[in-house]
Amino acid sequence: MTLHWTPSGRDGAARAGTLRTAHGEVPTPVFMPVGTAGTVKAMTADAVRATGARMILGNTYHLMLRPGAERVARLGGLHRLADWRGPILTDSGGFQVMSLAALRKMDADGVTFQSHIDGSKHRLTPERSVEIQRLLGADVTMCFDECTPFPATEAQAAASMRLSMRWAARCREAFLPRDGHGLFGIVQGSTFPELRAESVAALIGIGFEGYAIGGLAVGEGQEAMFATLDATLPLLPADRPRYLMGVGTPADIIGAIRRGIDMFDCVIPTRSGRTGRAYTGRGVLNIRNAGHAEDLRPLDAECSCPACRSHSRAYLHHLFKAGEMLGPMLLTWHNIQYYQDLMARLRSAILEGRFEEEAAAIEAGWAMTEE
Ligand code: GUN
Ligand code: ZN
Repeated sequence: MTLHWTPSGRDGAARAGTLRTAHGEVPTPVFMPVGTAGTVKAMTADAVRATGARMILGNTYHLMLRPGAERVARLGGLHRLADWRGPILTDSGGFQVMSLAALRKMDADGVTFQSHIDGSKHRLTPERSVEIQRLLGADVTMCFDECTPFPATEAQAAASMRLSMRWAARCREAFLPRDGHGLFGIVQGSTFPELRAESVAALIGIGFEGYAIGGLAVGEGQEAMFATLDATLPLLPADRPRYLMGVGTPADIIGAIRRGIDMFDCVIPTRSGRTGRAYTGRGVLNIRNAGHAEDLRPLDAECSCPACRSHSRAYLHHLFKAGEMLGPMLLTWHNIQYYQDLMARLRSAILEGRFEEEAAAIEAGWAMTEE
């Protein structure tokens, strides 16, 4: 029956649980590496799995443009095409249209836009977005919404949120219920608590297998993001998973788990890995810095990834300086490993009733920064 999340422990507002999908079970809190175009950039599917990642994200926008949703379906779906046998959550496209496409034109029914790849013309509506996500084979389908730009006036945020709520009802109608598959609604309303509350009420009225918080990490800052979560999360049903879209740094994630978020995705570990930024137990370091040129220590002595197990900072520094592709590959692996280890530590801590102690220990480690 559809898609279920079952709680297994709580510590304050922080939750541990299990998401049950058509492609297996996922312990929460979970971090989903971003596999935008059918690949977690610079990683094989086996490598992603070896980090402990159990669920990844794919993008409607990129895959509809290339290779095309119908083609992915003919090729056996995204799981088979990308050799990712675990669950996949797909974002619905609206957010990427607004940040990537040229000549976007939105109306009450949907969005018409030009591809950032070849300028070709395309249209997304709630119905088409849900259909594309079904063709891709998504375990979790996201409602087609508008990520309200920040800053917005209260009137702008209200109009944008109400449009997303009308689209959410159309997505619910268009979604075909199948075992292990679910549709998530997306709460909007910018940083206005009354609008967030109105959005939650509208989505609960429609009814979803999970609830995402959208429209955050768009420039409002961590304090405003946490304040918005404080105002929103207590209104959501306790028995459904909650997903904070596009977040974030390790510190953002700890703060959001503390407030009751179960699911995350973000390009930070993959994107910063490709540019030489490594997340470690002692804070963030940039492997390109000259200080690493003759440093024989591993990136992170606590980490079990291939970059840390087999290589020195000096070697990684050399790879980046020489423009070798193994550099971005190893740092991507390391960063995903760091995020997965962080989630596993926090989950165990929730189950053992020591979330705050664990969070404090992790944060104390970051303060011992080596750069
Ligand atoms: N990714 C980050 N924020 C958002 C959002 O508000 N909506 C969608 N669909 N995706 C996002
Ligand atoms: Zn590592």
